[in-house]
Amino acid sequence: MPIPVMRTSAWIKVRNSKIHGKGVFAAKRIPKGTRVIEYLGDRITHAEADARYDDHDPNDNHTFLFIVDKKTVIDAGVGGNGARFINHSCDGNCESVIEDRRVFIETTRVVEKGEELGYDYEIGREKDDPPNVDEIFACRCGSPKCRGTMLWPAKDPRKKKKAKKKAKTRVKTSAKNKTTSRVISRSKTQGRSTASRRRKASRR
Ligand SMILES: C[S@@+](CC[C@H](N)C(=O)[O-])C[C@H]1O[C@@H](n2cnc3c(N)ncnc32)[C@H](O)[C@@H]1O
Ligand SMILES: [Zn+2]
Repeated sequence: MPIPVMRTSAWIKVRNSKIHGKGVFAAKRIPKGTRVIEYLGDRITHAEADARYDDHDPNDNHTFLFIVDKKTVIDAGVGGNGARFINHSCDGNCESVIEDRRVFIETTRVVEKGEELGYDYEIGREKDDPPNVDEIFACRCGSPKCRGTMLWPAKDPRKKKKAKKKAKTRVKTSAKNKTTSRVISRSKTQGRSTASRRRKASRR
């Protein structure tokens, strides 16, 4: 049976946020592991997303794009719901989960009434990023663990080697059907507009 569409949610309220513009807040105490809302919007291809935001100011980091997989991007700027107002947090109380090629926002701990909801966008870096890319994507989540940027930390080549070594010894487990959001990553085709960055899904 298909999962019912979660366009609205009694768990949350949209109002102005200290972090950025509008944010999403708990309308009541939300238990850990609650599926709060679905991330809805126009489902388009990556090429369509690129074409749609081709003329976007490269110094403007604002985006409603969310990568579902290699084929599909959700543009919550068109037909989106309240989920599009959930801000990034470097130490958030939510995560995004992909199921049946749909995106859902779930709490990772109890969220008290009035608390702002947030999850890590893990915005991807690209080889041709300008030197001030961290400034462009400056984070204002206010968490003591704030990285100062919505971008995911650059890969440390030493760590990569270690991870490869570890992976060799790791016991293979069955693939999970749930994935967490990873980034608003720059498009491969256009590669220059910050607007074409989008949250991407990666295996948990
Ligand atoms: C999906 S929207 C979130 C809703 C947004 N506050 C609004 O009113 O439209 C994502 C955009 O909000 C801004 N944003 C979200 N979290 C942020 C943060 N922690 N620090 C700075 N800007 C943030 C960025 O411009 C980002 O591209
Ligand atoms: Zn932060």
